[in-house]
Amino acid sequence: MSDLDRAIIAARAAAERAYAPYSRFHVGAAVKLEGIDEPVAGCNVENASFGATVCAERTAILSGVARHGKRRVEFIVVATSIDPPALPCALCLQVMTEFCTPETPIIAVGSGERRIETQLGELLPSPFVFPESG
Ligand code: THU
Repeated sequence: MSDLDRAIIAARAAAERAYAPYSRFHVGAAVKLEGIDEPVAGCNVENASFGATVCAERTAILSGVARHGKRRVEFIVVATSIDPPALPCALCLQVMTEFCTPETPIIAVGSGERRIETQLGELLPSPFVFPESG
């Protein structure tokens, strides 16, 4: 099985673990890190104070850093059960920018066979970057 197939399975499994009692919209994500065989998965975790909710993509990316340190991200998968598949929100894209390159592939899968394969730089061409001092 390819790394991508394994990451899609991991993202879909993570979506089933989503804690989404408010929106009932389950999202899973998986990040493939260089040198790490198993994709790191995440799901959305909602909060009664809605703004404290964390998306699946950020859960996965931050878990990857916590577990393995900062590594090159080979690709990111996001899984929902809608068609066409949902793409990551802008907040998640900004967080991805910290650990990815504009060329990092983002693959969105939904309920059907349809996939969206794009790149971080396509979805967020002008991220915020911390200004050089002076
Ligand atoms: N959500 C994600 O997990 N990823 C996104 O990119 C967009 C939205 C979650 C957050 C919330 O739990 C639910 O989907 C509805 O917004």
